[in-house]
Amino acid sequence: MSHPQPNRFDIEIAQQGAKISNALHMLRSQQYPPDAKKGLRKFQLGEVADFIGVTQSHLRQIHLEGKGPEVESVGGRRYYTADQMLELRDYLEANKKSDKRYYVPRRREGEPMQVVSVVNFKGGSGKTTTAAHLAQYLALTGHRVLAVDLDPQASLTSLFGIQPELDDTASLYEALRFDDERKFISEIIQPTNIPGLDVVPANLVLQEYEYDVPLAISSKKGEDGRLFYMRIFNALKQVDDRYDVVVIDCPHSWDT
Ligand SMILES: Nc1ncnc2c1ncn2[C@@H]1O[C@H](COP(=O)(O)OP(=O)(O)OP(=O)(O)O)[C@@H](O)[C@H]1O
Ligand SMILES: [Mg+2]
Repeated sequence: MSHPQPNRFDIEIAQQGAKISNALHMLRSQQYPPDAKKGLRKFQLGEVADFIGVTQSHLRQIHLEGKGPEVESVGGRRYYTADQMLELRDYLEANKKSDKRYYVPRRREGEPMQVVSVVNFKGGSGKTTTAAHLAQYLALTGHRVLAVDLDPQASLTSLFGIQPELDDTASLYEALRFDDERKFISEIIQPTNIPGLDVVPANLVLQEYEYDVPLAISSKKGEDGRLFYMRIFNALKQVDDRYDVVVIDCPHSWDT
């Protein structure tokens, strides 16, 4: 079968696309230095106590005894980084007197990784906002979280400071594709600005997956499951031991 020759209109669109892409790259290099990274503010004692689930006086006592992480003090107030909050959890867990509670919430023996999908048929209904807040809250409360962006619009990915159209970022598509180029999901996962929270980015190529699946089903391709949800399930299984919770942000067209 011969491919149709591109007409002038196709060439014009491709040229315009390249121009827009160059302009975006230029704007980005003006606005953000190449090594720019999204940061995270520090947390006050009261916030730390809330996240960990202990009283402020308990934390003050630990500090007075010179135990736990060494934190920054400004004007008599102590500020903890998110990493120091995790250190504090480790200290509390290692020194607890009762087995009735856990300061480091982890899956126990035999407990499966929990997968939470944020879905709604309607677009613009707060799915990404909910997924982002849930993932961040779970990470700040000590869980090991993987946020998965299933939306080719990549809004969740962008919230973590990754710009898929500019960063040449690999997306979940690479872990789902039906050809020999398929990658392990661990090669695609990226850390975020929040300790304990990683992300599987999305990009526009993810849209292709919607067309790949019916083709694979009709041609009986794909030894690792042809149904889209089985392939996602199999990809997540590869990192089952690394996370307690997976939060999936769905595009509205996939919610059905
Ligand atoms: N609880 C809320 N109150 C007010 N505005 C909100 C709330 N949640 C989300 N928004 C705003 O609504 C808009 C759409 O939210 P969001 O992107 O999370 O929706 P979505 O369902 O993921 O959209 P899409 O279907 O395009 O993926 C955003 O501008 C967001 O800031
Ligand atoms: Mg969204």
